[in-house]
Amino acid sequence: MANIAIIGTQWGDEGKGKIVDLLSADVDIVVRFQGGNNAGHTMVVDGEEIISHLIPSGILQQKKCAIGNGVVVDPKVLIGEIDYLSTKGIATGPDKLMISERAHVIMPYHKLVDHGREKMKGDNKIGTTGRGIGPSYEDKATRRGIRFADLIDPEVFQERLKAIVPEKNFYLEKFLGTDTVDMDAIRNEYTTYADRLRPYVTNVSVALENAGRSGQQILFEGAQGTHLDIDHGTYPFVTSSNTASGNACCGSGVGPKDVNGVIGIVKAYTTRVGAGPFPSELFDDVGDRIQRIGAEFGATTGRRRRCGWLDTVILNNAVRLNGLTGLAITKLDVLGELDEIKICTAYKLDGRQINHIPANLGHLSACKPVYETLPGWKQDIRDVRSYDDFPQNARQYLERIRELTGVPIQIVSVGPERDETIVLNNPFT
Ligand code: GDP
Ligand code: IMO
Ligand code: MG
Repeated sequence: MANIAIIGTQWGDEGKGKIVDLLSADVDIVVRFQGGNNAGHTMVVDGEEIISHLIPSGILQQKKCAIGNGVVVDPKVLIGEIDYLSTKGIATGPDKLMISERAHVIMPYHKLVDHGREKMKGDNKIGTTGRGIGPSYEDKATRRGIRFADLIDPEVFQERLKAIVPEKNFYLEKFLGTDTVDMDAIRNEYTTYADRLRPYVTNVSVALENAGRSGQQILFEGAQGTHLDIDHGTYPFVTSSNTASGNACCGSGVGPKDVNGVIGIVKAYTTRVGAGPFPSELFDDVGDRIQRIGAEFGATTGRRRRCGWLDTVILNNAVRLNGLTGLAITKLDVLGELDEIKICTAYKLDGRQINHIPANLGHLSACKPVYETLPGWKQDIRDVRSYDDFPQNARQYLERIRELTGVPIQIVSVGPERDETIVLNNPFT
């Protein structure tokens, strides 16, 4: 029996959704523990693409899914997702989906603040997804948030709104110069969401404890990536939650001994959406080719993703911060046309070689990548289903990643579909 966390090692969009969907076949419960609908996790089953933003990707395998206390939830988006999945014949009732009573609710003013701040920052904007994520976590930390337990209690909800809305409207109008919100309209709108979602709201921590006692296996589904972590990422160009594996515990209500392994999802190259430093970013036609072949557009906002070479300074940071026990390499197929492939193995800063990520953003932006170059395999590998069938140069690339990180590769993905995967070691079986 094992409980495993799946974590993005880079800046998000590593292919977590695909791997979580695949591994969900062998687990009982899948839990999201941080982030919100800034996430976009893509699953492709028999040619059909399904993107989930809030509901854990285990839902496609019809496993029990939970939204933990560490997630910030836009109830309108969640209801939309529940309805969308039901139209696809995927059961999403309260027997399949739990929402933590302690999860915080994204309110209309959070989205207005998110947009208003980005607009005010102009060229210095973070490039957020505009979903109200940061302002919602901010209210959680300053104890002005509204949790699901509050939302589904009409009296408490009314009291909370009365305490918060005047302050929000003052800030929206006087500081950001944007639209304000109407308290009665919010109450009416959110009361319908509360009525719809009430049956889903429960104590997820207790549910996970009971599941563990009865021998069930849990998969903790990370969102975003390690370098978007609020503490350890490229601050302030980060999201507003801890994306690293430690938060699988706090964000779902289990203790550290209940997480037995951590798989880091590694895209075979690097991408980033939004602003912020990215040392191995490519600005040439190789970058454009990777972007085009990899269809690198954001699953949430549709923005073009910035592309660059694999960076093992970044990866080793993720190995340490998450305690990675295994790697899943995704999108290896995308590199199949290239003559040569580079790996950034260190940075040069002021003539010195470094192997860590400076916290000072000016220093990080000044870092120049140090590359080693490997030969490409110049072959379509989407049909490969066993490790030994990979072309020699593809195996060499994978082997080099293992050497540079010291972490075993457990899964290699060569296409978006479930079966386009080589599972070398399934952590759940
Ligand atoms: P997530 O946020 O980490 O779940 O990743 P996204 O869904 O945002 O982005 C990953 C994209 O790559 C999706 O469109 C997936 O369908 C696709 N994908 C995942 N694995 C592979 C792979 O091995 N090869 C290719 N070509 N596409 C993949
Ligand atoms: P998944 O789970 C990639 C980025 C945004 C922005 C920064 C802050 O699909 O990997 P936010 O709206 O969170 O305040 O934006 O974080 N970002 C992501 N980038 N994948 C994601 O999720 C992301 N979620 C947030 O682009 O740079
Ligand atoms: Mg994504």
